[in-house]
Amino acid sequence: MVKAVIKGVTVGYTDQGNGTPLVFIHAFPLSRAMWQPQVDALANPYRVITIDLRGHGESDTVLWNDTLDDYAADVIGLLEHLGITQAVFIGLSMGGYTLFSLYRNYPDRVKAMVLADTRAQADSEEGKTGRRAMAQVAFKDGASAIVDLMIPKLLSPTTIQKRPDIVNQVRQMILHTQPAGIIVDLMAMAARSDSTDLLPNISCPALVIVGEDDQATPVTESQYIAKKIPGATFVTIPHAGHLSNFEQPVAFNQTIRSFLQTHGLEQGR
Ligand code: MLT
Repeated sequence: MVKAVIKGVTVGYTDQGNGTPLVFIHAFPLSRAMWQPQVDALANPYRVITIDLRGHGESDTVLWNDTLDDYAADVIGLLEHLGITQAVFIGLSMGGYTLFSLYRNYPDRVKAMVLADTRAQADSEEGKTGRRAMAQVAFKDGASAIVDLMIPKLLSPTTIQKRPDIVNQVRQMILHTQPAGIIVDLMAMAARSDSTDLLPNISCPALVIVGEDDQATPVTESQYIAKKIPGATFVTIPHAGHLSNFEQPVAFNQTIRSFLQTHGLEQGR
């Protein structure tokens, strides 16, 4: 694990392999550790970069009023630190929301994008109320109280029943997230812009992936995104919930590989 100081914030990241840079942006309330199956499988023939957003994993704490635009700016700051101009970005759920912000603000940096288990709409009023309630739980009782709320949203019932190893790894990731990081994520997600108008203007190759049992951002949300982005590819991952990359890494990685090959984005291109 290496760290860089980006705009005064110490950021944990990994940078492995050679080839086209693939930059992975994690979900709420996790860390870059959720991308380990992708680092293992894709670093060589690709350059795989994962980042801990502020307040997560090995990165410094957040400021109380950070937004998803700040998270996107950190990702671009890391690329500048690494001397990378353009990359393929992969964002899952909150990582997808951050990717919408990144595309809105830095479209020239995006060679292609993968939107996994995410949604384009902003939060409803009911959704915002739920975010505030969860932030209060994190404020009062810490990350351990968030574990039980989030595991059923992140993983499919079958994974929860049959894969205690996966459940435990996700639990550990949540426990390692600072309560301040959890709270700021929730407020930042509640305040995020609606990205539906952006979709028809996305002109890079796009892949939309969703776990067939995703409860947090159901299949219909991803179908909607894929229909609105010109030329987007849509893939459903069987036997996966919201964390499709972690629950079914073989299918997820294969989907990314064939997308990159189809668009001539494999090694060295
Ligand atoms: C995530 O996985 O990042 C969250 O479920 C996103 C959300 O709560 O909207």
